[in-house]
Amino acid sequence: MEGITGYTYRNAHKSHFIGIDRYYTPFLVANQNLKLKNKERNDIAPMHNQDIHIIPQILSNKAGECLWAIKECHQLGYDEVNINLGCPSPTVVTKGKGAGMLKDLDQLDMFLDELFTLLHLDIKVSIKTRIGVEDDSQAERLISIFNKYPISELIIHPRVQKDFYKKPVHLDTFEKMLKKSKHPVTYNGNILDEEDYHQFIERFPEVERIMLGRGMISNPAFARELLTHESLTKEEFLSFHHDLLSGYQERIGGDKNVLFKMKELWYYFETLFYVDKKSLKAVRKAKTCKDYKEAVEQLVSSCAINNELHKDMHFR
Ligand SMILES: Cc1cc2nc3c(=O)[nH]c(=O)nc-3n(C[C@H](O)[C@H](O)[C@H](O)COP(=O)(O)O)c2cc1C
Repeated sequence: MEGITGYTYRNAHKSHFIGIDRYYTPFLVANQNLKLKNKERNDIAPMHNQDIHIIPQILSNKAGECLWAIKECHQLGYDEVNINLGCPSPTVVTKGKGAGMLKDLDQLDMFLDELFTLLHLDIKVSIKTRIGVEDDSQAERLISIFNKYPISELIIHPRVQKDFYKKPVHLDTFEKMLKKSKHPVTYNGNILDEEDYHQFIERFPEVERIMLGRGMISNPAFARELLTHESLTKEEFLSFHHDLLSGYQERIGGDKNVLFKMKELWYYFETLFYVDKKSLKAVRKAKTCKDYKEAVEQLVSSCAINNELHKDMHFR
């Protein structure tokens, strides 16, 4: 997740929690400069991702540029990359990238044709997709297109671009796509607590892989809880939180920038606790890392963990 699950986050997460098979990087932008930003290069550098199974994700709408990024990843030792056809952000979509690639399916078909014709590397290419731009009327055609290419995995987030992250997921459309896809399908979208997960696997027992997003940022032990029913404890949360804070302090330095990163997470963490307004305000208002850490400790000691109600908060 762009801005959240960079390598500092992934390392802290991996060292505290089990249950994740693979972490996808926030998207790397492949454009005509054929140059990754330093931040992107650092994010996929093997030295920053030791003992973590990561899959670099690429955002691109030109086969040549995408191919270049795939080669860069291959040279770094990656055996799989993921292509993003899902980002709904207007700045991305207006450039015809991310979910913007779903506007013109003939063009998408040509992009994939050129990409797979020119790709002569031993590397898997998976795709993460939404199901349309305005509506889902082209969803089955989309699958027919994907079926033509040797895609290693298809991750479907069954919302259209216009839905952003809030509208309900279109599970009926997902069902049709699942039936039609010849590729292994991974589901993504609104699995925010155990109940969501159980409802989903009851309806789709054949789906073996789930990609977690906001539910896992909110509750970092979510994947483990699904596997083992072992709930997050306050001590674990604090230990993870403090490691993440130290990671950012080492990497970015400067209280202001570090606090910006940490406070962003409270948009998600606040759904993990029965927060009281005063404690949350103290976390949000802290100006130094020292005050921030104290405010977080105070909040965690005074507020119970809420294991059930993530959905009600539902990421306004
Ligand atoms: C802040 C933010 C950043 C995101 N960045 C990415 C990204 O870089 N690549 C990607 O494939 N999806 C990205 N997503 C989408 C999530 O991966 C996921 O598809 C979406 O949140 C729906 O799943 P969820 O309901 O489990 O969160 C982002 C979502 C959010 C809210």
